[in-house]
Amino acid sequence: MAAEQEIYALGETPPLGYVPPKMHASLIRPERFGEPNQAFEIEEVDTPTPGPGQVLVWVMAAGVNYNNVWAALGTPVNVIGARQRKGAEEDFHIGGSDASGIVWATGDDVSTVKVGDRVVLSCGMWDENAEDIAAGADPMTSSTAKIWGYEENWGSFGQFALVDHYQCFPKPEQLTWEAAAAYMLVGATAYRQLMGWPPHIVNEGDPVLIWGGTGGLGSMAIQIVKARGGIPIAVVSSEDKYDFCYQMGAKGVINRKEFDHWGRLPDVDDAEAFGTWMKGARAFGAKFWEVLGERKAPKIVFEHPGEATIPTSIFIADNNGMIVICAGTSGYNADVDLRYLWMRQKRLQGSHFANVEQCAALNQMVIDGQVDPALSQVFPLANVGDAHQLMHENKHQPGNMSILVNATEEGQTDLNL
Ligand SMILES: NC(=O)c1ccc[n+]([C@@H]2O[C@H](COP(=O)([O-])OP(=O)(O)OC[C@H]3O[C@@H](n4cnc5c(N)ncnc54)[C@H](OP(=O)(O)O)[C@@H]3O)[C@@H](O)[C@H]2O)c1
Repeated sequence: MAAEQEIYALGETPPLGYVPPKMHASLIRPERFGEPNQAFEIEEVDTPTPGPGQVLVWVMAAGVNYNNVWAALGTPVNVIGARQRKGAEEDFHIGGSDASGIVWATGDDVSTVKVGDRVVLSCGMWDENAEDIAAGADPMTSSTAKIWGYEENWGSFGQFALVDHYQCFPKPEQLTWEAAAAYMLVGATAYRQLMGWPPHIVNEGDPVLIWGGTGGLGSMAIQIVKARGGIPIAVVSSEDKYDFCYQMGAKGVINRKEFDHWGRLPDVDDAEAFGTWMKGARAFGAKFWEVLGERKAPKIVFEHPGEATIPTSIFIADNNGMIVICAGTSGYNADVDLRYLWMRQKRLQGSHFANVEQCAALNQMVIDGQVDPALSQVFPLANVGDAHQLMHENKHQPGNMSILVNATEEGQTDLNL
């Protein structure tokens, strides 16, 4: 631990509770928007000060998520410009929507955590005094809801992160800093998708189709479905990903490259084209039965690819089943054949991150060892752009990636202060 100084090199630790005026962070600037490996650069910036209800966290490790691929590209939203239009002064973005670390300072009116607490952070932020929340709305549906480290600045790719007090959850003691930083965003999102929309929640024996089984969301979804007694069936794009899905608990795995009917629906009046599409969708359905081992349709389809897969997801879901979606990675123009929606009374449900109870429930599953963070690769802060580039190109290894921020090496579960 070093004496009080203006800024600390990565790897040095200030005295607990001392907040240096400056910090190192990996920044995105508008002039660097583009390929993620060019967009991020480590710079020195002023350390933010926690206001009422806020907490300043010494970041030990940060998680890598797809949202900062979008932030780096500057599309579909220029997050810096969007914040400036609402009055923010900073002309940079410090991304990072997942972290493990230590509470270093608190603003007024914070009673839920104290300096020295080891925490993991959730990315769901809202105005606790918002009218809609006071009237009973789930905070994630509030007009004030936003994602920290994406829509809001001061994310975890900096030595200090600034969050609201309710974003802090106890760090699972058994986990390394880098594993603890890897799971909350994808885990809690998957938890809300699978458990947050009753009566369509995973029950004992329910088959569930999970797109992107080796991805961040998919790796969490497989484990949650398994822990709930459901039957996870994963979809991937190559056979070398099968083993990972089985390790996570999948009963069966499908290779989507064996089919070619993906993308938007042909016009329903074009009998030939529609017939060809239907043949592909039926073949996919038959494959689902084959890997499941019985002729049952999925009660829930866990969606995020969007445009490429939604027509198939809606076709394959069980009568009165649910397609629950949190993204449109392959595109946003997803076609719905309404006949399946109304005649078979299926539910197409949007879902976005998670509320405090859902984050806590997912965190407890990790503490109890029911959900593993599925940590794949770990990078130093200097390579945060490379990690996002791998994700952008879908070349990352199965599971979730982490960044060592103030942690000096992999494998540490605590910091001597
Ligand atoms: N709204 C929210 O709260 C929320 C939260 C977390 C993530 N997201 C979003 O969800 C998406 C996925 O996130 P992630 O962390 O799971 O990303 P990820 O780790 O990159 O995994 C996504 C997986 O999707 C599969 N995939 C990609 N293109 C596909 C296509 N055309 N058809 C079918 N599958 C495809 C890939 O698996 P295969 O190539 O093996 O099939 C990939 O592994 C991103 O757009 C992210 O921004 C939203």
